Formats: sequence, C-alpha cells, structure tokens
Amino acid sequence: MAILVTGGAGFIGSHTCIELLNEGYEIIVVDNFSNSKPESLNRVCEITGKYIMIYHLDLLDSESLEKVFLVNQIEAVIHFAGLKAVGESIKDSLKYYKNNITTTIIICELMQKYNVKKLVFSSSATVYGLPDTVPITEGSPVQAINPYGRTKLMIEEILQDLYISDNEWSITILRYFNPIGAHESGLIGEDPSGIPNNLMPYITKVAVGQLKELQIFGKSYSTVDGTGVRDYIHVVDLAIGHVFALDKTLKTSGVKIYNLGTGKGYSVLEVVSAFEAATGVKIPFKITQPRTGDAAICYANTSKAEKELNWIAKKSIQDMCEDSWRWQSHNPNGYTKNEELENPRLIRSEVFLMPKN
Ligand code: WQD
Repeated sequence: MAILVTGGAGFIGSHTCIELLNEGYEIIVVDNFSNSKPESLNRVCEITGKYIMIYHLDLLDSESLEKVFLVNQIEAVIHFAGLKAVGESIKDSLKYYKNNITTTIIICELMQKYNVKKLVFSSSATVYGLPDTVPITEGSPVQAINPYGRTKLMIEEILQDLYISDNEWSITILRYFNPIGAHESGLIGEDPSGIPNNLMPYITKVAVGQLKELQIFGKSYSTVDGTGVRDYIHVVDLAIGHVFALDKTLKTSGVKIYNLGTGKGYSVLEVVSAFEAATGVKIPFKITQPRTGDAAICYANTSKAEKELNWIAKKSIQDMCEDSWRWQSHNPNGYTKNEELENPRLIRSEVFLMPKN
C-alpha cells in the first residue's frame, strides 16, 4: 500500500517524502512541476537511497489522475499541491480558487470512488488572518484576509462537510506557521521562482549575492524591536509532523486540526541577527513601508499537536539559519542547473516514472 503525495516535489513536499521514506512508507508523487522541479525528487532518492513512483500530471486532469488510483494501491493521501503566494492570489484570485479548491475536490472524489478515505491536508496559519491574541490555538478565530488564505479556509470547511456526509473519512488538517530551513545534506531546500516573497529565501539570496539588500517591511509594530514577529519552524520538523499526523490519520476517523509551529516568535531583526551569527555572512538591509495585510505578531500554541500527535518541533533558529544557508550556498540557482540558465531551451519537463526498486 502506498501514500500518494500531491505536490511532492515542492519545498515541504520533498522534505516530507524523505521522512516518509525513512519511516518505511512506499510513496507515489503526483506533481505538475508548475512551482517545483523534478530535480528535487532526484535528490530525495539520492538522500534516501530509495526509488519513488512519480507521475508528472496536473490534478485538474482528473482522467490521468484516476489512472494513478487504478494502477496503484493507495492507502492515504497527503495533499500539498496548491498555489501559495499571497500577493499573486490578490492579483489573480480566480486562478487560486480554481486551482486550490477544484483540485482538492477532484482528489477527494477519486479517493471516495476508490475507497481511500485517509487524508492529510496542507493548510496554513494564514487562515487566522490578523490574530487578536497570541499564542494562537486551533480554536482561535479564523478570518482569512486574502484569496490564498480563503482557499485554505474554504477547503477546511469542505473537508469538514465531507466527513459529515461520510463518517468513514479520517482527515487531518495541518496549519503551518512559517516553514524555513532545509535538509541537513544541503541537497534540497526552498527554491522560489523569481524574487522571493518570503523572508528567509530573500535573506539567503542576499547572502549569496544575488540580491542587494533585504527590505524590512516596517519597524513600527508593537513588538520587541518594531519589526514583524513570526513562528519560524524548521521544514524538517514540519515534515516529521506530517509522518506523525499520517500515523494518527491511519488509525482514527473524524476531522482533526493541528497548529504546526514552535510556539516561539522571532522578529525580522532577530532572524537577521541569528542568520549572521550562524553563518558569519552580513545581511545589509533597509527599513521600508509595512507590507499590506501583514500581521504584527503571529505565533502558535502547539500544545494540541504535542498532546495528540506526540510531536514537538526540536530544531532551533540557529539550525534553521545554518541549514538554509548550506542549501543556498551549495545551490545558488536552486535546482536550475547552470547550463539550463545559459541555455533556457534545455529546461524541459520530463515525464518521470522512476522504477520501483
Ligand atoms: C515573515 C516576516 C514580513 C519578506 C507567508 C504567507 C503564509 C505562509 C508563509 C504559505 C513578516 C517580513 C518578509 C521580506 C520582510 N505561506 N518580511 N521582508 O507573511 O508571515 O507568511 O508565508 O502558507 O501563508 O502569508 O511570511 O516570510 O513573507 O514574512 O520584512 O522581504 O518577514 O513583514 O513580518 P508571512 P513572510
């Protein structure tokens, strides 16, 4: 029996594939590589020494996706695939509603048809919007404030209704805080296309000399130093959290929601200082206007995941900075090979069917 991982070539997906393989699971990855590269999965195989079945397809292509259910014995699905850029979701909301919600409905319809009713869903702390109080618990008010966050919230509600219509389902919803860092090998990591939206990939691009300086979005928040505070969690801790969540999902039924964070907040300036201390690389920055829609402070109460999943984030902000830097310094252009940069025509989408061992 295999675990189907949608979006398994992505930042969190690829790290989770490693932890699933290390745990002995057989995995199948479906990815359209629209926001990721097949190379990340080659490296997953290099790190683990294991093969995985990869299907290069778009979840909107329900006919092709059904074939994956037909030819494989699938035990559960971990659904990462989705668009996740807040700013882009504001500019092109229909694209986000169509992609994120329709693909989730398609995957759930096929799961129902093939009697696969174990689902782990990738949600986000963005469903909390601008939190009134911190730390944030799973019972805190949800109030998404952008189309990306609203797709996550709508999907959570769709999944709750799915369970009401069929109590055989076991659904675990994971609300991520701010995943950063990389696998200690330095072989996989965050590889955003274009100019990074998020803090850590922007810092590492400055550190590697591809961007001139960090722009710190505002220094007038009511925080320790005026800059925004977030709950940064090492992507490997987050990946391990998925293994613990899958284990619980396989053994139970019902809908469960968990915050996956560290329960500790760091300001932007604290992250910059931690990065400089961990790497010895100076990060020039300038203070600019606050970013529209940004919360001042956002960090998790993680006691529910600790109690019910027996999971806790273990890696420090120093680990996150060291591991982010090892990835970026060893891979200045992410997964894009130098020759592909010089000859863009070489960038091709290969159909992958890695043989099972
Ligand atoms: C972190 C802090 C910024 C960049 C977003 C999404 C969320 C999730 C994680 C998907 C904030 C500041 C950032 C920069 C800066 N993604 N910052 N200069 O906004 O907390 O969450 O990514 O699920 O849905 O909303 O993360 O990394 O963008 O920002 O000063 O160049 O760094 O103001 O305080 P955010 P972020």
